[in-house]
Amino acid sequence: MKTLKTFALLSAVTLALCSCKVEKPADTDGHDLWFHNLEQVSEAVPASYTTEAIAQNEIDRYWKGKAAVEIRVLDPQEEELGRDGYRLVFSSGKVDVEANTAIGTLYGVYGLLRLQQTDALPKGNRTITEVPAFQYRVLNHWDNLDRSVERGYAGKSLWNWEELPDTVSPVYEEYARANASIGINATAINNVNANALILTDEYLQKVKVLADIFRPYGLKVFLSLNFAAPKRIGGLETSDPLDPKVVQFWKDKTAEIYALIPDFGGYLVKANSEGQSGPQDYGRTHADGANMIADAVAPYGGVVFWRAFVYDAQAEDRAMQASDEFLPLDGQFRDNVLVQVKNGPIDFQPREPISPLFGQAPNTNQMLEVQITQEYLGHSKHMVYLHPLWKECLDTDTYEFGEGSTVAAITEGKFRDNKVSAIAGVTNLGDDVNWCGHQMAQANWYAYGRMAWNPDLSSEQIVDEWVRQTFTANPKFAKPVKDMLLRSREVNVSYEMPLGLHHVMASNAHYGPGPWESSSRKDWSPLFYHKAGEDGIGFDRTVATGSGCTAQYNEPLASTYENIETCPENLLLWFHHVPWDYKMKSGNTLWDELCYKYQSGIEDAAEFISIWEKVEPYVDNQRYQEVREKLIRQAKDAMWWRDAELLYFQQFSNMPFPQGCYPAQHTLEELMQVGVFRRPQGTPPQGQRPQGAQQGQQGQRPRFQMPSIYDVLPEYTLPTMPDL
Ligand code: GCU
Repeated sequence: MKTLKTFALLSAVTLALCSCKVEKPADTDGHDLWFHNLEQVSEAVPASYTTEAIAQNEIDRYWKGKAAVEIRVLDPQEEELGRDGYRLVFSSGKVDVEANTAIGTLYGVYGLLRLQQTDALPKGNRTITEVPAFQYRVLNHWDNLDRSVERGYAGKSLWNWEELPDTVSPVYEEYARANASIGINATAINNVNANALILTDEYLQKVKVLADIFRPYGLKVFLSLNFAAPKRIGGLETSDPLDPKVVQFWKDKTAEIYALIPDFGGYLVKANSEGQSGPQDYGRTHADGANMIADAVAPYGGVVFWRAFVYDAQAEDRAMQASDEFLPLDGQFRDNVLVQVKNGPIDFQPREPISPLFGQAPNTNQMLEVQITQEYLGHSKHMVYLHPLWKECLDTDTYEFGEGSTVAAITEGKFRDNKVSAIAGVTNLGDDVNWCGHQMAQANWYAYGRMAWNPDLSSEQIVDEWVRQTFTANPKFAKPVKDMLLRSREVNVSYEMPLGLHHVMASNAHYGPGPWESSSRKDWSPLFYHKAGEDGIGFDRTVATGSGCTAQYNEPLASTYENIETCPENLLLWFHHVPWDYKMKSGNTLWDELCYKYQSGIEDAAEFISIWEKVEPYVDNQRYQEVREKLIRQAKDAMWWRDAELLYFQQFSNMPFPQGCYPAQHTLEELMQVGVFRRPQGTPPQGQRPQGAQQGQQGQRPRFQMPSIYDVLPEYTLPTMPDL
């Protein structure tokens, strides 16, 4: 009897233990993105390749609810919903998905499935109305025709130009579906450093095939144009925007494109920037150039995204140049031109203040450009959730029209009667099976789409949605992973460029430290940006003693940045040149604070590894291993970058690492050797590119496999957790 009882007890314990054990999810390569947990309930396939059929099919296959879903295009239309908005009406036993257009209903369907997948379906009767903030929610691909991707870290371009137009990869439709599911509705498919050949008939036939595949998913195609195209492919002797033959060239070319792609979106233009041709080559202005192109697309309802990313070696402060060039043109651009402005005034650094241009040109349609690819933030080797960076910009008040004139409000067109509004993100996509090169970087594609739809969504909400849909809602996984992602941007700032430091990365690759680097052009030299010397460190942009950049901001921002006492410490060295022994708010000297910031970056990056190791039971082995390896690399990189930056700056501060900071594992001399070694043989530094050479054109820029630091130096040893 006793034995039986013991046996029963043991079985109960075993059973209880078994029921607690989590079943290890099956391996996945991450290709299915945030659709990962969508369970198929039926095999339905669309009868035809139309938006309506796709919307119905998504519901037939994936809607698990008991309530019947009815999809309806409204007649008459309702102004409130606009072209893309939708309404979900939950009533007993029924959900109505209503919109003015078929694409609106498709967004509604994805919205409904998202609620299902994130356990957020309302209980009882309720109506949810969603209208996107921006009319054009655009991806910018920096993809070249040879399938290399400028600043791309996820393999080759998605577009297989050699196979197109005859062979069509299934990835094209998967791409369109993924974008539609998060509300992205436009894509500029080629590099802003544009090869004029994209506008030839041969390539347009290929582009047409992509456009046909994207259309039912509401994704409009844009092309980046090369301003010199009239000369390069049009047989003209000039590309002067005021020359009638040039005007005609663009009209004809545009008509040719619309004949093939009737819903073509328009053009994206990088002109007179980094060696690209532009109207200034002919003594004309950006407005002359943009308007000429805008007039060509206007009859078809097209628009022009004209980039404000302009600077040249002569400028005393590159951070000021976009405003200097575009302000005098305020009010001169056509209604269908949007001036596309990067979030910060330099170039996608881990932290920048907003571009002052956002607060300055009241009569110019402006749109925000963010970078989804991690050019300066550890490429696809580092886990950095970028939404907090973008949100910081969108939420910054420019005070242009009084309090509340945030970058979001201005670009949404809340203060002027914008005919169009838009937002752009430079993609992190490539042909890697997981799309983004890092499983966690998919969160940035997702977050960009959700933000472009609704800039008010918080970083927390977006990451919560993404983790639930891509991994699991189990709080044992979701909570720590979300916390880690939410911290990751600030951690990246800490181990790369804390306290307002900027552009201290190695030139060319923008990966790894290079504070010692100078280039033939000062505005490409880390030395120019940090200005470290025995008297201190930082770029003086004050009106009182520096470049005067602070005056480009409206009050009270201008005085806040001008005054060292009120300047936010996370932008201190952006706006001020500060003595090493300056007392920070913590009571530390600037030098000690800098050391502690870098130290915290290392500690946090190392802690991410152990957080990830703890959630191992809840994630499939393949993704677990991939992410773990990258987190280790990230932590080691953090140590490498910290050592290099601090050892270099220490030559000027002449102060020791404060208590609690790890000693460096390599000497400055060794680390500087890595920098030299990293430049590909035979590649001139950026500033010494041959005249007229363009980035991204086949054969003109040597492609190379960057050797790792560990090909030259012994690997970094990670600190063990108890040391932290
Ligand atoms: C950065 C980037 C270039 C890119 C440029 C741009 O400078 O390094 O590769 O072409 O931005 O935004 O046009």
